[in-house]
Parts: sequence; C-alpha cells; structure tokens
Amino acid sequence: MGITGMIYIVTMVFSLIVLILSSSTVGYDYFQFTQQYQPAVCRSNPTPCKDPTDKLFTVHGLWPSNLNGPHPENCTNATVNSHRIKNIQAQLKIIWPNVLDRTNHLGFWNKQWIKHGSCGNPPIMNDTHYFQTVINMYITQKQNVSEILSKAKIEPLGIQRPLVDIEKAIRNSINKKKPKFKCQNNGGVTELVEISLCSDRSLTQFRDCPHPFPPGSPFLCPADIQY
Ligand SMILES: *[C@@H]1O[C@H](CO)[C@@H](O)[C@H](O)[C@H]1NC(C)=O
Ligand SMILES: *[C@@H]1O[C@H](CO)[C@@H](O)[C@H](O)[C@H]1NC(C)=O
Ligand SMILES: *[C@@H]1O[C@H](CO)[C@@H](O)[C@H](O)[C@H]1NC(C)=O
Ligand SMILES: *[C@@H]1O[C@H](CO)[C@@H](O)[C@H](O)[C@H]1NC(C)=O
Repeated sequence: MGITGMIYIVTMVFSLIVLILSSSTVGYDYFQFTQQYQPAVCRSNPTPCKDPTDKLFTVHGLWPSNLNGPHPENCTNATVNSHRIKNIQAQLKIIWPNVLDRTNHLGFWNKQWIKHGSCGNPPIMNDTHYFQTVINMYITQKQNVSEILSKAKIEPLGIQRPLVDIEKAIRNSINKKKPKFKCQNNGGVTELVEISLCSDRSLTQFRDCPHPFPPGSPFLCPADIQY
C-alpha cells in the first residue's frame, strides 16, 4: 500500500471516530430557565385551571437548549424518585407548582425531568440535583422574575404596558443580557405568559437568549403587553 492509501485509511478511520463520538453525545449549548405567569397560563389553556392562581411567575422548567437544530429531549425513562426529593417538596410546591393541576405537582416535575432535565448532564447530575439547582437559581441566586420586576416597581396589575420596560428591568438584573418573552392573545388582549433567562452550558453566567419568536408566531410579543 502506498502513502496515499495510508493517508486515505487514516482519514477514514478518524472521520468514523468523530462521527461515532458526535452522534452518541447529546449536545446542548446553553440553558433556558423559563418562568410562567400563572394567571396568563390558565387563561391560555384550553381547559380552565382547577384551582385559583397566584399573581406570580413560577418555574416552568430548566431546559438544555441548542443554538442550531433541535433541543435534546427525553434522555432517560426513569421517573423522579419521590422519596429522594421528600425534603425539598415543600419548596418545590411554592416555586414550581403544577398550575394546571395542583393535585399533581409530581407529574409536572416528572415530565420536566424526563423531557429536559435528564439531558442536562453535566452540570445536572441526577433528578434531585435538577430540582435543587432550580431552587438555588430561583431563590438563592434571585432569578425569581416576579421579584426582579417588583424591585423595579413593576407590579402585576393586569394593565397594558410597554414590553421594553419589563425587558429593561430584567436585563438590569442579569448582567444586561437578553431575556426571551412569550405572549399569547387571550380574548383580544395580548398577555405576557413566559419569561426565559438564559445561561451558558455550565450554568455559570448569563447569556443572551437566542431565537425570539419570529414575526407571525402566535407567541410573539407586541410592543405593548398586559401584565
Ligand atoms: C419526549 O417525550 C414526550 C412525552 O412522551 C413527547 O411528547 C416528545 O415528543 C418526546 N420528544 C422527542 C424529541 O422525542
Ligand atoms: C426508553 O425506553 C424505550 C423502550 O423501552 C427504549 O427504546 C429507549 O431506548 C429508552 N430510552 C432511554 C433514553 O433510556
Ligand atoms: C445527585 O448528584 C449530586 C450532585 O452531584 C450528588 O451529591 C448526589 O449524591 C447524587 N444523588 C444520587 C442519588 O446519585
Ligand atoms: C418571588 O417574588 C415574589 C414577588 O416579590 C414574592 O411574592 C415571592 O414570595 C417570591 N418567591 C419566593 C419563593 O421567594
């Protein structure tokens, strides 16, 4: 075999290794920490919520996400070990309630863990660690969006207001980075439903959220929204 043949074989083997490695790695580039405004979630839902809502942004989920291509999902089949989260359940009920059905918080946490949390390794090591990480972000690291807005004198009054005011308040508390907003038209009024804060893939610093909802999307926020 000549030198050309050798180079060819080495190149092919190397390409194969790269291909195998890249296809077996569940990749993601950043995390979205998404919080939902309870009254707007209930008004956006086809079936009404069973229980009254609080005027609060509470956790929807922490989602490993990609800049290009689909986000990773369903990296485990193993449901949450409810015994292991016993001592944090009281806190989770407050920051991460199942707004649509408050008799089934665990069902919501399970869904978020299986669909999203399980794909965030590292830095998310297991189910318990997923929930603990979110508690730390919401409470200790003060990423509670209701609190961020309240400190900027933006209270949930159910009135029309410029989205830029909300964006400015959020940016000022996340190192000037760009959040992502989701709105929905409920009975002729466009309400702010969700706010996502984005962090790098190791959850150590904020980054701009990519992929705002495009023009034409039902979730695009107009210049004035209700909150
Ligand atoms: C992950 O599982 C959920 C629930 O079973 C399903 O709706 C979703 O399509 C799945 N996602 C992928 C990428 O397979
Ligand atoms: C989940 O279970 C299905 C069916 O048993 C299996 O095909 C799939 O590989 C499992 N996925 C993971 C991530 O374990
Ligand atoms: C989950 O991960 C955390 C953080 O790495 C670790 O301290 C804990 O022991 C793990 N729990 C289980 C049950 O593996
Ligand atoms: C989040 O912030 C709101 C508004 O300041 C506050 O009412 C709520 O208690 C906070 N939640 C937690 C768990 O600290």
